[in-house]
Amino acid sequence: MPDSPAPLSARFRQATADDHRRAEGRPFVQDLLRGRLDLEAYVWLLRDLLEVYQGLESGLEAAPEGALPPPLASPALRRAPALESDLRHLHGDDWRTGLEVSPPALEYGEHLRGLARSFPQGLAAHAYVRYLGDLSGGRIVGRQVQKAFGLAEDHGLAFYAFPDIDDVDAFKARFRGALDRLGPESDAEALVEEARRAFHRNGAIFEELQRRRAARAP
Ligand code: HEM
Repeated sequence: MPDSPAPLSARFRQATADDHRRAEGRPFVQDLLRGRLDLEAYVWLLRDLLEVYQGLESGLEAAPEGALPPPLASPALRRAPALESDLRHLHGDDWRTGLEVSPPALEYGEHLRGLARSFPQGLAAHAYVRYLGDLSGGRIVGRQVQKAFGLAEDHGLAFYAFPDIDDVDAFKARFRGALDRLGPESDAEALVEEARRAFHRNGAIFEELQRRRAARAP
């Protein structure tokens, strides 16, 4: 008998392990992690992430019933409202008009909106890359951001808080279980491709923001 295929969550992890290492090593991410980012560049990142999460979350909300088993599209994960709150605190009320979204973030948002129409289950791969990342390394980054900018708990740190998730490890296990129930097997390759694309598109944003920093330096 042929071996049954590995669960999708294990395939995602394995197929993106190198992408994850590369993402962690990008200069923008390293500076974020080491508290070397200035507030202006951090706000650019939040604005770009908002574009991405708006695309992702509008698609997750509109996905056909049953396409994405819970908790893949759980409201407890939603990051767009948290990002808007952080932008208001850290940049001010003019964040909607005063900040430019980078081209790779605009393209990523477009990609997600297209996927919502053509292959809604594909959004699960992007939810995996963003939300499991936020629930994992994101917690480490949040502590650094708090220190670097001297922020109080309730001031500009909403992006890192998941008030409706009590037990993060149990939630991550349920999230992986839901990925493993996504069918059919014939879609698995396309989903793994989408997870890799998600890392590449996130990487393109970090690269662009790093270029913007370099261009701004005196
Ligand atoms: C700031 C640098 C980063 C650090 C320190 C970091 C750290 C970590 C750690 C420790 C885990 C393991 C959690 C566990 O086993 O449950 C993890 C998982 C993960 N991270 Fe990151 N990460 C970083 C950046 C990123 C970025 C930029 C992305 C994507 C945009 C990302 C996406 C993920 C994903 C999808 C997982 C789940 C892997 C799996 O278990 O299948 N991470 N990260």
